[in-house]
Amino acid sequence: MVSQIPVGIAGLGRYLPGKRLTNHDLEKLVDTSDEWIRQRTGICERRIAAPDEITSTLALHAARQALEDARMSPEEIDLVVFATVTGDQAFPASACRLGHDLGAVNAGGFDLGAACSGFVFGAQVAAGMVANGQFRNVLVVGAEVLSRFLDYRDRGTCVIFGDGAGAAVFTPLDRAGRGQFLEGSIRTEGGAEDVLCQPAGGSRLPPTVETVTNRLHYMKMGGTKVYKFAVRVFAELVQGAIDRYGLDEVGVIVPHQVNQRIIESAMAQIDLPMDRVFTNIDRVGNTSAASVPIALREAYEAGRLVEGKLVLCPAFGAGMSWGQVVLRW
Ligand code: UT7
Repeated sequence: MVSQIPVGIAGLGRYLPGKRLTNHDLEKLVDTSDEWIRQRTGICERRIAAPDEITSTLALHAARQALEDARMSPEEIDLVVFATVTGDQAFPASACRLGHDLGAVNAGGFDLGAACSGFVFGAQVAAGMVANGQFRNVLVVGAEVLSRFLDYRDRGTCVIFGDGAGAAVFTPLDRAGRGQFLEGSIRTEGGAEDVLCQPAGGSRLPPTVETVTNRLHYMKMGGTKVYKFAVRVFAELVQGAIDRYGLDEVGVIVPHQVNQRIIESAMAQIDLPMDRVFTNIDRVGNTSAASVPIALREAYEAGRLVEGKLVLCPAFGAGMSWGQVVLRW
């Protein structure tokens, strides 16, 4: 058996663009209401990237904060894992731009596309590579500029999503001193391409005048299917960790900020009170791959990551994809 190096999180960071898009602003764009959005999603406002900000710009701010928190210089980073479905462009990887802008001159990097599960999957790639000794310091970023892929004529999607970035630095536990990575899971199920997707722009439906006219480069979502799927896998992932470690061990659940109602339904299904879960969806909206690391940094600042207790991070999204990271803080 190969010996494994225990892995922890040395630093956390997050960045939200300055522009707030409120429910009242959306009332002027689509047939919706502040009351409907609050009741069905728990969202009051979301952030929108400035015209001169691209996905790697948001990631850069979050990465700098994570490095500062880790007391680490960019030169010490060995690998950048950039989770996103709204990268600067299809290729090259946004990780290359981020590494360059950050001054991570010794790092390689790549993008990881797993939609809302992206950060949770990326964290497991990082933890595995640090554990087997291939890399010492791995920066994992989740960043999205979803606002450029939303159809502001489609009230079923544009009210839910926002822009933002979060980051975490994974290192050997003796250096990190906290946030021990205990386990992770990665699950996907194909054949659900139409449930939540950007239909055009890839090899399946290359860009044409027709795809643009038909607004097929914007996100499409079967909201109810995603809703049912998310409640089910959220509850299964969290219940599984409780069965393995015991409820008393669990300090806080920091889930993908999918929709307040989904989180409440899943928590009710496993019979846990809402004070066991950290949410920020009211202010941030659903930021896909950025959602878990943004929430982790905010939970950390709020003193919700309790020393010695478990932090459960379940995530789920397009693919379908789902998985969870379990940390001991
Ligand atoms: O990270 C994964 C990302 N995906 C998600 O988080 C989505 C998960 N799904 C959801 O959050 C919910 O399905 C939605 C919030 C998208 C929709 O809520 P719902 O309770 O499932 O509503 P629905 O789709 O069943 O629609 C109910 C009604 C419909 O009107 P009719 O046909 O009953 O007249 C919709 O057209 O609500 C209407 N509706 C809206 N009304 C006002 C849908 N969106 C809106 C809106 N404002 N923004």
